[in-house]
Amino acid sequence: KKVERGCYTWSSPSNIALVKYWGKREHQIPENPSISFTLDACRTTTTLSFSKKDSHKYFSFEVLLDGKPKNDFEPKIETFFKRIEAYLPFLKDYHFKIETSNTFPHSSGIASSASGMSALALCLISLEKQLVMDVMSSAVETTQIESYFNQKASFLARLGSGSACRSIEGDLVVWGNHKDIDGSSDLFGIKYPFEVHNNFKNYHDTILLVDKGEKQVSSTVGHNLMHNHPFAEERFKQANQNLSKLTHVFKVGNLKAFTEIVESEALTLHAMMMTSLPYFILMKPNTLEIINKIWNFRNETGLNICFTLDAGANVHVLYPESEAKKALEFIQNELVAYCQNGHYICDRIGFGAKQL
Ligand code: PMV
Repeated sequence: KKVERGCYTWSSPSNIALVKYWGKREHQIPENPSISFTLDACRTTTTLSFSKKDSHKYFSFEVLLDGKPKNDFEPKIETFFKRIEAYLPFLKDYHFKIETSNTFPHSSGIASSASGMSALALCLISLEKQLVMDVMSSAVETTQIESYFNQKASFLARLGSGSACRSIEGDLVVWGNHKDIDGSSDLFGIKYPFEVHNNFKNYHDTILLVDKGEKQVSSTVGHNLMHNHPFAEERFKQANQNLSKLTHVFKVGNLKAFTEIVESEALTLHAMMMTSLPYFILMKPNTLEIINKIWNFRNETGLNICFTLDAGANVHVLYPESEAKKALEFIQNELVAYCQNGHYICDRIGFGAKQL
């Protein structure tokens, strides 16, 4: 079908891993399966405008962040386009204007790669849909078409940034092949297919911005540190085991066991960085202050507040809906003081990307 010009807008969320992805092979294949909560408030909105190209450049695109040209995003997009060209043959026929904005501040230490790459992948999939829809048989069910395109969006997002493939759907997403999770794949994220206890519905994630600076270690460098890492094989095994344990925890609603797995995963991620060559410490003194405060509070109150970390100093504080009032009071009274300029973001489990 001939399509001269048009535009699509998608809003896509960030996600926070419970079992971490750290270590990959060629073509963005993860060394171990991971699972994440899809977030709700932390999102990227991307508008992709396209028109038939007249330039000689192989890929023709411009990128704007908050309405201003963002040349330093171009190499990432160029690499992304090269990786996905084989799956979207129309890519070189158009000029693309990519206008993007985040709900969280650009320099907040919150990575925008998951929400950004998934939003862009979804815009491109919308265009593909427009191009191929008439040739798809009307015998194919709408739900089947939707799930095909969602899967392909996740597949493409993975090629932009691994964890981005977990940002298409919600509320829990598994990426990476796991022996007990039917349908799980290294190539795309899937909605967690098993029963989840009510304890985990509407879970909260308050993100404490301890250090808003640029990442000390890019995730590409970080993943590469797992090649020849002395503990890599054990770590990959452990991630598989933790995912098995979590499926049971989700079924029975065991919040104590959840805390143990999630905190151990966060600390293991950081332990991998401390024990690689070169080695890194990505936590800051305030990260440790917060962790100790959370542990003390949990001991004193018996509440189920726990933490997880990304590859940085910020702390994600997780707690169930039933304890939200007390947890937030504690966070505001005791933890916010350790945030840079007192900044934090109240987020919770969300349900995936939306077309606007
Ligand atoms: O998607 P990447 O390549 O930026 O890697 C993200 C890795 C972690 O955020 C540290 C863990 C994860 O599973 O999201």
